[in-house]
Amino acid sequence: MTHGSSGVAVLDLEPAASDFLTEAIEGLSSTPPTLPSKFFYDERGSDLFQQICELPEYYITRTESEILRKHGAEMAASIGEKAELVGFGTGAGIKTRMLLQELENPIAYVPVDISKQRLIESAEALQTAMPALEVLPVCADYMQPLRLPTPSRKPDHVAVYFPGSTIGNLEPHLAENFLARVCRLCGNSGGLIIGVDLQKPVELLEAAYNDRVGVTAAFNLNILERANRELGADFNLSCWQHRAIYNSGAGRIEMHLIANGHQHVHLGGRTFRFAHGEMIVTEYSYKHTQEGFAALAKRAGFKLSRVWTDPEQLFAVFHFVVAD
Ligand code: TRP
Repeated sequence: MTHGSSGVAVLDLEPAASDFLTEAIEGLSSTPPTLPSKFFYDERGSDLFQQICELPEYYITRTESEILRKHGAEMAASIGEKAELVGFGTGAGIKTRMLLQELENPIAYVPVDISKQRLIESAEALQTAMPALEVLPVCADYMQPLRLPTPSRKPDHVAVYFPGSTIGNLEPHLAENFLARVCRLCGNSGGLIIGVDLQKPVELLEAAYNDRVGVTAAFNLNILERANRELGADFNLSCWQHRAIYNSGAGRIEMHLIANGHQHVHLGGRTFRFAHGEMIVTEYSYKHTQEGFAALAKRAGFKLSRVWTDPEQLFAVFHFVVAD
């Protein structure tokens, strides 16, 4: 246990430090070549992502917050009283706070995050804002099996909160496996509040991931800079270009880094060759339909309780309960 200045104790499950070198070599050797998106988020990457969230083209963060502001009270009523709220990767925790403030007699809040620093900062801010709430932060990779701490009062039920459409970064069959695990984690009478980005015209999607000022490009290219810095690779940054393309057949945005001219890259004693126009895939971001996502969650063991969207139906927040 680590104690912060406001007395919040972090349960550190010591998430396995993943091996950037091994995963980068493996990714670049596959077809198509990839670099794993979890390595976007070093300090600079996290800063750039924060800036993405505030871009006029990136409607996701703003729209999800609006839905919460408008319907937070209904969401809280749908979740019910005496809940233990478990937050997965909730970042600065602004949306979570909106939800917690509406909940009736919440028993505890358990934020789960792989980044210890971000976890401590947001947990302490929340504890200061809501001194009566029991805050039990857990430093762990929520994509791996997980055991939750026991609050001092017994909750009636567990509700998992998973905002930001991060579920969209998983291929649908992996998203389904993940939700099945969430279902077991929250157990009988448990529930899930999850933010999901919806399918929409290709122009809006591609604009959101190819912003005009180039923040998204800097964010995507940062993974190459990080490989140069941390792994001693020699990507020539001026020869790579960011491009996000919507693959409407698969229903996903594909984040690419495209080689401008023939490239030789050395990394970990190997040489990777790229032809002009060849690309590295860094991330997929699946866009769902409301029906499609409800069906996916149903296969994972959930039953739809309610769904809220914005007037333009850009984004949806679902409340699911564990099916009996
Ligand atoms: N999870 C975010 C999303 O899918 C990540 C993201 C936003 C992203 N913009 C990006 C990833 C640009 C790579 C490149 O919306």
